[in-house]
Amino acid sequence: PRPEELATNLDVSTLVDSDGGLIDRSIYTDEGLYKQEMRRIFARSWLFLAHTSQFKKPGDFFTTFMGEDPIIVTMDKKKSIRAYLNSCRHRGVRVCRADAGATKMFTCTYHGWSFDLEGALQSVPNEQAYPEDFDKKDWGLIEVPNVAIYKGLIFANWDPKAEPLEDALGDMRYYMDAMLDRDPEGTEVIGGVMKWVLEGNWKLAAEQFATDWYHVNMSHASALMVLSPTGKGPKADIAATPGRQFVSPKGHGAGFPTHPKSRFDAKAVHEHYDYAALRERLGDAAVEGPMTTGHATVFPSFSYLPVNGSIRVWHPKGPDKMEVWAWILVDKSMPDEVKDAQRLYNLRTFGPSGIFEADDGENWSEVQAISHGFVTNNVPLNFQMGIGSEREDGTYPGQTSELYSDAAGRGFYRHWATLMNEPAWHENKNK
Ligand code: FES
Ligand code: FE
Repeated sequence: PRPEELATNLDVSTLVDSDGGLIDRSIYTDEGLYKQEMRRIFARSWLFLAHTSQFKKPGDFFTTFMGEDPIIVTMDKKKSIRAYLNSCRHRGVRVCRADAGATKMFTCTYHGWSFDLEGALQSVPNEQAYPEDFDKKDWGLIEVPNVAIYKGLIFANWDPKAEPLEDALGDMRYYMDAMLDRDPEGTEVIGGVMKWVLEGNWKLAAEQFATDWYHVNMSHASALMVLSPTGKGPKADIAATPGRQFVSPKGHGAGFPTHPKSRFDAKAVHEHYDYAALRERLGDAAVEGPMTTGHATVFPSFSYLPVNGSIRVWHPKGPDKMEVWAWILVDKSMPDEVKDAQRLYNLRTFGPSGIFEADDGENWSEVQAISHGFVTNNVPLNFQMGIGSEREDGTYPGQTSELYSDAAGRGFYRHWATLMNEPAWHENKNK
């Protein structure tokens, strides 16, 4: 076993009681658990990389991360999307330092090794000085073995035996379709990628987007007043709000209020849609629920908000820090002025300084900031809302609970704990 395996083979079953709804907050702060997450969560889950609309011709590339591993996503000469570890095989420098662009070759800036779009090492300066058995074929970029696309979203997985992306998503696809499949032409991303840093563990954000409608009335009260046409704050009687929360056995989650008259908040977007056609296409239940206002996380770290087309990744940067990368998703066939209305609404609400986004980031940093105390760390957190209420409701696929519930949070941590306690594909090599 490698050194990090010996050091981080921690049993998390005493830290996560997902049936009882108790979570030990050391899972947000412990350095060893964080390293174990890199090995057992991020090195074997399907992770979101980019949107297909970011790649139009061979050589278009985008750089991102899988866990803390730097990744180049590019379109090869045959127009397939491929993903490589962004690290030179010679002495390890990133072979691509730009955020995005177009190229014929990735040339390392340290000593000049060059790799083509297929990851092959094409040229080595002063190659004649290497031993005779040095073969460029052995030193190509490390490729991520699985790249798969679900309705425009590109995901990748390091596990050579990973289950297919569609199976890993399971019933979550129905909830995603309510955003990804409103338009026969599909979706695209517009503008750049917004990136900002938050002082907080990545799970605080991922779990909140999976399960937490509960915070909306309190945390976002002032934002709701600004948006409300009457200037009134949220209703006091929240438990009566009709809605459902989806709980996946794979750790995904989604929550949404249900309204017989669904509508988008941005006026131009609302007026753009033909709601009868959407009902025909997606079904009444999808239009009245997950299509507009709601929240969702695809385990582990990809989240989205259908109402404003925000899709985002919570990149882990150590136990105490995350980097948020957010794209604006629109329907391809929307007229430009509707796309722009969606973009402005997105920035106003969930852009880096949006009136909702700022509230959420503040909460996560607050939780993280005090979580290193010894006694603090020994007091569990409560995830008991709606315990035992998950069921098949006959309308929405999979198990769902009431809207105000921690069911998807318990599901998120249940799956997290299962993966954390199970050796991953790369650990079996030695056995
Ligand atoms: Fe890339 Fe030396 S580190 S060429
Ligand atoms: Fe929020």
